[in-house]
Amino acid sequence: MQRAIISGMLVVILLATGCAEQKSASSASGVMPVHLPDVRTPIPLGTEARQEHRAVMLQHLETIQAIVAALAEEDYRLAQGLTESHLGFFMHRHAMARQDPANFPPAYHDLAMAHHAAAEKLADVIPTQDLKQILPQFNNVLKACVACHLEYRLRSS
Ligand code: HEC
Repeated sequence: MQRAIISGMLVVILLATGCAEQKSASSASGVMPVHLPDVRTPIPLGTEARQEHRAVMLQHLETIQAIVAALAEEDYRLAQGLTESHLGFFMHRHAMARQDPANFPPAYHDLAMAHHAAAEKLADVIPTQDLKQILPQFNNVLKACVACHLEYRLRSS
């Protein structure tokens, strides 16, 4: 009787450890977050310039949300207006008026211009009201956000 209980317990323990092994095997296969080394180029900025840059970025994200909301409501005029005024070249001039261009490497400037150019293209196709034309351009705008985020980070100078 006692033997049966002990061997029963052994089976339970073996099953339990088997399970634990399976779990750690699955985390080794990429379920756990992987911490990649940060290879982005740091841009040294003073406190004020950093805050200004951050404000522009946070506004970019809010603008993207507002554009998607306008598209979802089929308010194409609003979507176009937001894209042009908040992400286009006008916004670039506005943002750069508050920054010292010398702080930013030329390649950063190129990525910023590519992003504004993509936004202008998006603004151009929105009046078609055709999502098959709008979404690929929208994707290009988001790709331009991602491209720069992969390359650069800010650093306190
Ligand atoms: C030309 C470069 C560039 C482009 C284009 C760009 N960003 Fe950024 N963004 C940055 C950098 C640099 C940071 C700071 C990252 C860091 O220091 O970790 C940043 C940070 C941010 C942050 C974090 C702000 C915070 O709370 O600190 C958000 C949100 C953001 N960007 C949104 C966007 C969106 C949305 C777009 C596209 C519409 C965009 N960005 C396009 C360079 C760019």
